[in-house]
Amino acid sequence: MRSVILMMLASVLLMPIAWSAPAAGKARASDARSNKPVAPEAPKGDAVAGKDKAENERCMECHGVDGNGAGHANSTDGKFAKLAGQYPSYILKQIRDFRSGARKDDQMAIMARSVSDEDVRDIAVYFSSKTRMHGQDGNLHELGKELYEKGDPARGVLACVSCHGVKGKGLESNLAAPIVGGQEWRYLDKQLRDWRSGDRRNSADGVMNKVTNALTDKEIEALADYLSGI
Ligand code: HEC
Ligand code: HEC
Repeated sequence: MRSVILMMLASVLLMPIAWSAPAAGKARASDARSNKPVAPEAPKGDAVAGKDKAENERCMECHGVDGNGAGHANSTDGKFAKLAGQYPSYILKQIRDFRSGARKDDQMAIMARSVSDEDVRDIAVYFSSKTRMHGQDGNLHELGKELYEKGDPARGVLACVSCHGVKGKGLESNLAAPIVGGQEWRYLDKQLRDWRSGDRRNSADGVMNKVTNALTDKEIEALADYLSGI
């Protein structure tokens, strides 16, 4: 008798759960589970709060106070990416990729796990509001420029300009492709090698792996020369 009462009680208690479950499942299927490509999220953030957070979270120590690099006084010269003027949506994506392991770097994995997305939105909006990264030397780097603008279709090297814009300053129509003109030489050189070897593979459809697959060391250095100088 007692077990019958318990069963009735249990079924009454469980009923609302059973009813609500399908509704929750349906809601999820329509957004996060869909495989449709999503436009990069344009994070809204507070640049003033972001400045404090970038300092407190130590981002400035490595990326520079205004995101234009930590200076050239030590042996890490050029290893840290510039973030000044970079798209906030790109910065947020990279932090999420470092956090999940989709992009690998020991230091940045620790940093990414220590900040919330909300803080990253503010930090990203702060860095993106600063004077856009730019190079200094102004020299012409013929091979790098040629490859950047024309690619080499016979070897599957797509023209970089078609996604990263003139002089690597970005394209409004393709916010997924970051600003690369004026970036640090050493950082660019490492990223291009990492794309080629597959150590970095967080671009949609592996596009950056395909684009760099056939590049020689000399060509990678020429591209880094060109992009870091403009
Ligand atoms: C101890 C130094 C250090 C600190 C502190 C640090 N970073 Fe980094 N960060 C790096 C290095 C090194 C890389 C480049 C990793 C690589 O080579 O792929 C990097 C890369 C990045 C990138 C990728 C840039 C790009 O162009 O793809 C972003 C975004 C970034 N960091 C944001 C942050 C933020 C936000 C903070 C603060 C929460 C932070 N970093 C703190 C060292 C640091
Ligand atoms: C079809 C579009 C496309 C083409 C063509 C392309 N890229 Fe990219 N590139 C991207 C995207 C998208 C990303 C960002 C991937 C991610 O989310 O991490 C990227 C990332 C990069 C990065 C990393 C930047 C950073 O801050 O870490 C570098 C460097 C780069 N590309 C250089 C090049 C060069 C050099 C070429 C030409 C040889 C080229 N790209 C051609 C789409 C493209």
